[in-house]
Amino acid sequence: MTDPFLQFDAWFAEATAGEINDPNAMTLATCTKDGVPSARIVLLKGRDERGFVFYTNKQSRKGDELAENRQAALLFHWKSLQRQVRIEGDVEDVTDEEADRYYASRARISRLGAWASQQSRPLPERAELERRLAALEAEHPTDAIPRPPHWSGYRVLPRRFEFWQDMPYRLHDRTIFTRDAHGWETGKLYP
Ligand SMILES: Cc1cc2nc3c(=O)[nH]c(=O)nc-3n(C[C@H](O)[C@H](O)[C@H](O)COP(=O)(O)O)c2cc1C
Repeated sequence: MTDPFLQFDAWFAEATAGEINDPNAMTLATCTKDGVPSARIVLLKGRDERGFVFYTNKQSRKGDELAENRQAALLFHWKSLQRQVRIEGDVEDVTDEEADRYYASRARISRLGAWASQQSRPLPERAELERRLAALEAEHPTDAIPRPPHWSGYRVLPRRFEFWQDMPYRLHDRTIFTRDAHGWETGKLYP
């Protein structure tokens, strides 16, 4: 296979069929401008010919790091398939229209939660989050809840993929794809 996106789709389809939950969960690694890394799980919510999309609060720790360093790495680990996929690349913002579309598809409480949560900032006690949510519910009795300006998505634009498949005796198979001016180059790595 010479197109890593097609390879990803094939493995993702198998993961979707086989994983017990969250086949779209991926570790997102970001970095400060000084090179201090951090990682957390987010959900893959879109994939097109350009890249991989997730949604979050842009004022979170990851949002701060992405504001100062536009590079990220993604990692999928599908335990039941004994596979991992690593993706690295630049990050761009999704458009407001794209974010609006996805936000509108979310459950009402999730949409209110995006307003209620000051993601990654100190929360004195859980009851405060519940109070904020209750106040928002009263403020927005209908389903017309605008998207918070600080809640949106990012697209990771891959320049490198690695597909890792478990093999007997730790002689695993590793296939890499790197992008140059002409397209994708592929090769193998020692396990
Ligand atoms: C299975 C799973 C899915 C998650 N999905 C998301 C997500 O799509 N977006 C998000 O902002 N946080 C998601 N989280 C929470 C993040 O891991 C993290 O706690 C949060 O985004 C704050 O990270 P930060 O402080 O590094 O910005 C998820 C956590 C888990 C375990």
